[in-house]
Amino acid sequence: MRQKLVKSFWRGKRVFITGHTGFKGSWLVLTLKNLGAKITGFAIDPITKPNFFDDLNLSKFLVKDHRENIQNFSALNNAIKKSKPQILFHLAAQSSVLVSYKNPDDTLKTNVIGTFNLLKAIKLNRSIKSAIIVTTDKVYLNEDKKINFKENSKLGGYDIYSSSKACCEIITESFKNSFINNNNCRVATVRSGNCIGGGDWTEDRIIKDCVEAFVKKKNLLIRSPSATRPWQHVIEPIYGYLKLAERLYGKKGKNYIGSWNFGPSNINLSVLNLAKLGKKIFNSQSKIIIKKEKNKKHEAKFLSLNSNKSLKKLNWKVYMGPKLSLQLTFDWFKVFYQNKNKKDVINFSIQQLGNYQKLIKYF
Ligand SMILES: NC(=O)c1ccc[n+]([C@@H]2O[C@H](COP(=O)([O-])OP(=O)(O)OC[C@H]3O[C@@H](n4cnc5c(N)ncnc54)[C@H](O)[C@@H]3O)[C@@H](O)[C@H]2O)c1
Repeated sequence: MRQKLVKSFWRGKRVFITGHTGFKGSWLVLTLKNLGAKITGFAIDPITKPNFFDDLNLSKFLVKDHRENIQNFSALNNAIKKSKPQILFHLAAQSSVLVSYKNPDDTLKTNVIGTFNLLKAIKLNRSIKSAIIVTTDKVYLNEDKKINFKENSKLGGYDIYSSSKACCEIITESFKNSFINNNNCRVATVRSGNCIGGGDWTEDRIIKDCVEAFVKKKNLLIRSPSATRPWQHVIEPIYGYLKLAERLYGKKGKNYIGSWNFGPSNINLSVLNLAKLGKKIFNSQSKIIIKKEKNKKHEAKFLSLNSNKSLKKLNWKVYMGPKLSLQLTFDWFKVFYQNKNKKDVINFSIQQLGNYQKLIKYF
């Protein structure tokens, strides 16, 4: 790697990541590798083609790359036992709301039973001192009442994905109370908003649609042009998870057990403006065409997190507004499609991490 961004806490730490082959997992692998950690990954193969992890061969940064299903407890437990991790990040999930309509069984098995398996493995493997369970902002009961959800707001879940993640929260809480001695391992759940960033080719995501239209010189079809979202760059919550994992590991770690919001800023940008920004960055001639939406699935109109706890206790806040987050995302895809040499893409990703680390003074 071109430059290392070592922070002494992470140097040589044994870290176990589930879901390392996914979008967020890939960024977490790169970030931790740069901080000097020794990483073991556990996940099934990435779903999309292309994908960040395999296309950039991030496997070479791991001590061991397990490709197994989290529904299989023995496989998970054996992998953890062998690597003796000190810190664990659980990201493996069926992560799409739309897929949860098509395949509710697998969503529940992966997200709920998978998390239960993970908690059982934490209980058995005493090397783990700090564990972060990644859920989502969709765990809250959302009645479109324009509430800024706090960590203690009521849980809910309109669709199966959201309810499966709310279940992860409840199971984690009850499992901690029943079986995990807080002196041994400190566990926290984390809830971020919808993330954007280089390397996310998940179906039905607006950024992917934009990039593919611009690269293939096709018209870009968009729905709900005036819909707005507080876009959040994936690096922002990842640094929140790192800070939290560090604190959980420390002497006063018990004070950090519980749930944490790492939400985006509430500055919104419309889908149309997002598409225009991408078009400019790609210097594209593609036409943007607005399409009527058929059979639209339920989607909360308003979803906002109150992240004051993270600000007060971790000094975590959002540094990048939606425009900068989108700029970084489109820049990344431009570099990906314009470079045959994937090392350049890795170096570019590390450069983005380095710039962010300087911005937030994380050293
Ligand atoms: N991307 C977002 O905007 C966002 C927002 C909030 C929360 N989250 C949560 O963050 C985590 C990571 O999200 P992502 O966007 O990287 O998702 P992703 O779909 O890109 O990655 C999911 C990862 O889980 C693995 N996985 C899926 N099913 C598995 C199984 N049965 N056994 C083992 N591994 C399995 C995949 O191989 C992949 O590595 C998820 O828990 C997701 O719910 C994501």
